[in-house]
Amino acid sequence: MELEMDTFVIEGGRRLAGRLRVHGSKNASLPLMAAALMCDDPVVLRDVPDLADIRNMLRLLAELGCHKTNEGGPKDVMCLHAADRSNSHARYEIVRTMRAGVCVLGPLLARRGYCRVSMPGGCAIGDRPIDLHLHGMRALGAHVSMESGDIIVKSPVGGLKGATIFLGGPFGSTVLGTANVMCAATVAKGRTIIESAACEPEIVDLASLLTKMGAKITGAGSPRITIDGVSQLGASGGGSIDHTVMPDRIEAGTFMMAAAITNGDLVLDNCPTDALLSTIDRLNAIGVEVEPIEILRPAGWVADPLRQAVRVTSGRVIKPVEVTTQPHPGFPTDLQAQLMALLTLADGNSVITERIFPERFLHVAELARMGAKIFRQGPTVIVSGVRQLKGAPVMASDLRASACLVLAGLAAEGTTIVNRVYHLDRGYEKMEEHLCGVGAKITRVSEKEVGE
Ligand code: EPU
Repeated sequence: MELEMDTFVIEGGRRLAGRLRVHGSKNASLPLMAAALMCDDPVVLRDVPDLADIRNMLRLLAELGCHKTNEGGPKDVMCLHAADRSNSHARYEIVRTMRAGVCVLGPLLARRGYCRVSMPGGCAIGDRPIDLHLHGMRALGAHVSMESGDIIVKSPVGGLKGATIFLGGPFGSTVLGTANVMCAATVAKGRTIIESAACEPEIVDLASLLTKMGAKITGAGSPRITIDGVSQLGASGGGSIDHTVMPDRIEAGTFMMAAAITNGDLVLDNCPTDALLSTIDRLNAIGVEVEPIEILRPAGWVADPLRQAVRVTSGRVIKPVEVTTQPHPGFPTDLQAQLMALLTLADGNSVITERIFPERFLHVAELARMGAKIFRQGPTVIVSGVRQLKGAPVMASDLRASACLVLAGLAAEGTTIVNRVYHLDRGYEKMEEHLCGVGAKITRVSEKEVGE
């Protein structure tokens, strides 16, 4: 396993100003990559971010006979070709390093009628069951069993059959569960209706790739997705499928909060504004402006609300707000920690309620080490704004909690040391380089050097 114990040393108190480009989305890329297992033709994905989770997914796909065939080509372009279908076992050693490995389940079942996927364990943000994924597979007629911690899913004789499936769970729908069931249903006989489907923009991106492969999907992005099964997927005319990954709405939101917490002025290119409306709504209430800007475009350019340039500016006073995380289009759980960093400096009391992962509060105790005043009761925290955060050594074993600590460090007085940034590297491409490019002072050092 790749484990780099790097650390960030952040000198706080610098205002961020300048221009950043938002990368392609991690959470869109992972199921898009897995979908390459579904057809025998090459799938070209563009603007794939360079992240540890993406490299782990590549390793997993390679074991499953789907290889990246353009090694040495442009870093952000990935050509995937599922040439060998002999191994359909996603092993524990890989799935445990990256829970999203579970999204090979639907694609493998669709193309091979069989898969064996290690049951992902819990992770730092909660238990994370996959019962809804399996409920969807069973509804399509698949046979599901367990062996040595692996889930084995098989198509019935005669293949999967379309069905009406309710995918809502106790916390709303499931994003990767919707992705898995949608993939499997593309080749099921007849019509499948996924009711209470996840509405996340990453599901829309996946439906768009599957449609390019010949799938018949309508309603992606709404709570009811209809899929009419086809006999098999592939590129029309035997060429390849080409798809550009949507921009990362969570990275964009994190950059917006970095601008806000440093009283800064940032322009974000490739910003998926349309996927961030609830975030922008909360930022506006806090006193942060997010405005689309006009930029010179080549002739024939068509406006795309998922790929805008926006300018983020913030007033001196951060106003307190109430926010509850919800499935899309509500405020995303993946930005809850970063928003909390911002609200530690608000002029009053804010209330944050976490409804998707009620235990996702690893950052609370770490923020307190920097002088934040936070009171937690169950899934709700009250953040009482303070005048100033103070730099301290901190650590969090969750990707978004680590991003929250980096934001806090940017605003804090003195030096903040964020340990174990490999969690951050799972989801943000070279975050320190990008933030330093707009005025931050962050140095990456190996943990050994810090100890010396
Ligand atoms: N749930 C169930 N049963 C299931 C599946 C989910 O009860 O079978 C529950 C979960 O425990 C949770 C809720 O439903 O309480 C939502 O979980 P979901 O399945 O939607 O999460 P996911 O698909 O596993 C993706 C993202 C997460 C993001 C969540 C919620 C990827 C690779 N991961 O996970 O991203 O937090 O949706 O939006 O797309 C991150 O990037 O930091 C991250 C954790």
